Amino acid sequence: QSAATRGAHWDGPQSGFAAALASCQRCPLHAQATQVVAGCGPDKAALMIVGEQPGDIEDLHGRPFIGPAGQVLGQAMQHVGLERDRVYLTNAVKHFKHVVRGKRRIHQTPASDEVEHCRLWLDTELLRVQPKLVVALGATAAMALTGRKGPISGRRGKVEAGRDGVPVLITYHPAYILRLPDTAAQSTARDVLMRDLAEAKALV
Ligand code: URA
Repeated sequence: QSAATRGAHWDGPQSGFAAALASCQRCPLHAQATQVVAGCGPDKAALMIVGEQPGDIEDLHGRPFIGPAGQVLGQAMQHVGLERDRVYLTNAVKHFKHVVRGKRRIHQTPASDEVEHCRLWLDTELLRVQPKLVVALGATAAMALTGRKGPISGRRGKVEAGRDGVPVLITYHPAYILRLPDTAAQSTARDVLMRDLAEAKALV
């Protein structure tokens, strides 16, 4: 049994996926999250977009990319003519990692071992959806998909070999864009995200 499948209650790529994922306890993150947030999109899609992990709003509603970062992504997709319902959207980690400060739940970056535990689900989605290309939003998704760690500064806009055999185009995470200090920097980064998404569209 491989490290990826050890401890999983999983009965194959097509069957029982949602139920198995919903009851996942492969790492401690399930204990603090409201629910698992599975990927969504067509069963077969030429393009898959992978983020880091659900945010506060996604955790509460159980759907990926519906909060502020999702809006930035959605606007960029719309701008380049990528229809959301033709793209499979998911995350490297399926539970919201956070700390509670007063009434706020503050996002925390998942650790490498949490990303590795969750890779079973990402691998299963890749098997099922069979995309031609995956877009990795930010360093966590890039690590999960390529196995290579580190900042994405020198890698953004390039296609790398994915560990599952699917090519991976790396770009900014929309939450990173929202954290940039001024609107000019945000606008430049949004343009870069749109350029990368347009490139992804051209490749599929
Ligand atoms: N950020 C992500 O990476 N994924 C989401 O689903 C929402 C915010």
